[in-house]
Amino acid sequence: MDMEIIRERMKAILNENRYQHVLGVEEVCKDLAVIHGYDMEKAGIAGLLHDCAKNLTDEELLQKCKEYHLPVTEAEEKSIYLLHAKVGAAIAKDQFGVHDDDILKAITFHTTGRPAMSLLEKIVFTADYIEPNRKPLPRIKEIRIAAYDNLDLAVFLILKNTLDYLKSTSANIDKKTIETYEYYRKVDLNLAHEDPCFY
Ligand SMILES: [Fe+2]
Ligand SMILES: [Fe+2]
Repeated sequence: MDMEIIRERMKAILNENRYQHVLGVEEVCKDLAVIHGYDMEKAGIAGLLHDCAKNLTDEELLQKCKEYHLPVTEAEEKSIYLLHAKVGAAIAKDQFGVHDDDILKAITFHTTGRPAMSLLEKIVFTADYIEPNRKPLPRIKEIRIAAYDNLDLAVFLILKNTLDYLKSTSANIDKKTIETYEYYRKVDLNLAHEDPCFY
């Protein structure tokens, strides 16, 4: 599907802030694809579509899970918004005609990440966090530098920030996020000296 058509459709289904966010993610995904050696167009499509289910209400997300026969985990039951990732992948396939498995997985795991992500999954996960329309977040400068230099380190720093934030709000933490954090904590040897953090 033509990128301009996807953009128009996303503009129609998202509010203005969210639309600006997905445009920002699309741009950063393309930059990261060039830097880290991935197909730029595929990265752009994944970035643009990653939040295509973000406009849906909790009820609509649960309804879509039934419709697409998607399992709902315990963590997702407690934090329904997490479902916008897997429902987004189903909508990308069903309504936008995306059949590329790498793009669909990048959409599915953009919120929690997962251990041993593919390059595109790491690109979308990171771009979602660092795109320029995001409000300032802790350590964002360091994460932006890492994103262009050492993507695994950027993923680790994002997960650490996310877990620190979730802990501070005593929100539910998806165990996938913890698993992913534990995986990426060990990936970068430069981090081996750091004290382990337990969540
Ligand atoms: Fe999202
Ligand atoms: Fe997003």
